[in-house]
Amino acid sequence: MIKIKTDIKKMCSVRGEVTVPGDKSISHRAVMLGAIADGTTHIRGFLKGADCLSTIDCFRQMGIDIEVSDEVITVHGKGLHGLTKPQDILYTGNSGTTTRLLCGLLSAQPFDTDITGDSSICRRPMGRVTKPLSLMGADIENEYCPLHIHGKKLKGINYNMTVASAQVKTALILAGLYADGDTVINEIEKSRDHTELMLGAMGANITVNGLQICVGQTDRLMPQEITVPGDISSAAFFLVLGAIMPDSDITIKNVGINPTRTGIIDVLLDMGANIEIFNERIATGEPVADIRVRTSKLKGVKIGGAIIPRLIDELPVIAVASLFAEGTTVIADAQELKVKETDRIKAVTDELKKCDADITPTDDGMIINGNKPLHGADFEVYGDHRMAMSLAIAAQLAEGPSTLSDISCVAVSYPDFFNDFYGLGL
Ligand code: S3P
Repeated sequence: MIKIKTDIKKMCSVRGEVTVPGDKSISHRAVMLGAIADGTTHIRGFLKGADCLSTIDCFRQMGIDIEVSDEVITVHGKGLHGLTKPQDILYTGNSGTTTRLLCGLLSAQPFDTDITGDSSICRRPMGRVTKPLSLMGADIENEYCPLHIHGKKLKGINYNMTVASAQVKTALILAGLYADGDTVINEIEKSRDHTELMLGAMGANITVNGLQICVGQTDRLMPQEITVPGDISSAAFFLVLGAIMPDSDITIKNVGINPTRTGIIDVLLDMGANIEIFNERIATGEPVADIRVRTSKLKGVKIGGAIIPRLIDELPVIAVASLFAEGTTVIADAQELKVKETDRIKAVTDELKKCDADITPTDDGMIINGNKPLHGADFEVYGDHRMAMSLAIAAQLAEGPSTLSDISCVAVSYPDFFNDFYGLGL
C-alpha cells in the first residue's frame, strides 16, 4: 500500500481574518430536528463536512426531502411521526454524533433499522446510549456497530448519567419526545446544550434546570430559520496558532461562543493568551462573536473537572499549545479522549513524542512540560480529523520539516482547513 505523506509548508507568522465553517454539532441537530418538524426548515451556515452529510443521507433514506444548495439547506420536515423505514442499512461514516443521536430517535419509531459506520465507528462504544435507552423500553441489538434497532413504544425514565456526554444526553432527549410520561436526565457535568436550545425554540415540551433536563411527549415541532455559527472547535486551531507564532494577529469571525463550548478560551486566557472577544450577538438562540488572538507568552496550567466537557474536542490542540508554554500543564478527568475517533490520549502523546516533546500519557489525560526545543517529524494522523489539524499546528510551530500522513480526514469537520491555514500565513 502506498503511504500518502503531505509536507507542511512553513510560514513566518499568521495575520488577517478567517471565517471557520459551521458548527458540526449544531448542523447535525438542525437537520435531524428539521426532519421531524412540521414543515420546512432552512439552514444557513451549515457545515458541509462528511459527518453532517452522513446525517443528511440517513434522513433522505427515511423519506425526508433535503435540498442542498451553496447557501442554504432546505429540510422538508414531515413531523414527529413522518419518518419511513429505510430500504437499506443506514451508514453513518465516521460520525459518532449521527450514530448515537439516531439510536435515540429510531428506538421510538414504528419500524426497525440497522445502522453502521466506518472502521472507527465500529470500534466506538454504543452501550452508553443503548443501555439507558433500554431502560425506556428500547430494543437495540449489539453494543458496537452494526446495531439493529427494533422500534418500540417507549416510557419516560429518571436517569442519572454515568458519562458527561452530549451525545448520550441528546439520544435520551430525542427518545423522550416520543415516550409516555416524562424523561428526566441528570447530567454529571454540563455538556453542550444545543439540542435543548433548539428544541425549546421549536416548541418542544422541554425544561432545563441546572444539570437536570425534563422532556415530555411532544406532539409537534415548529420548523425554524436556522443560522449556524462558526465552529469554535475549528477556530481552536487558529487560536493556538495565533497565540504562539511570532508576530501574529488574527481575527476569527462569527464563532459560536455558547458557554458549554468555550472551555478553550478560558484555558488559553488562563495560560496568558492575548485574546479579545468582540461583536457579541445572538444568532438563532446561540451566542456568536468575533475573536482576535495575538502572539502571547503562555504558561502551563491545570485542566480538569467541570471544564472538560466544555473543551473535550479541543484537548489535542490544547496539548500542542502547552508544548510552547512555560512550565507544566496537567490534563486530568479526560478519559473520554480514549473513545473519540481514535484513542486521543495515546495518539497525541505518541505523535508529539516524535518531535521530542516532554509529554506523558496518564489514565485520564496527560502531563506536558513545555518550552523544550521541538523538531519536525513524520506524523501519523490515525484518520482522525482533529489529530490531523492539531498536528498541522504542531508541525508549523516545531523547528524544521514535518509531514502528515493522509490528511483527507479533515473533510469530516473542516474540508477547507489547509486553504484557510495557509491563507493566514506570511
Ligand atoms: C458532540 C458531543 C461530544 C463531542 C462530539 C460532538 C455532539 O461527544 O466530542 O465531537 O455533537 O453532541 P460526547 O458527547 O461523546 O462527549
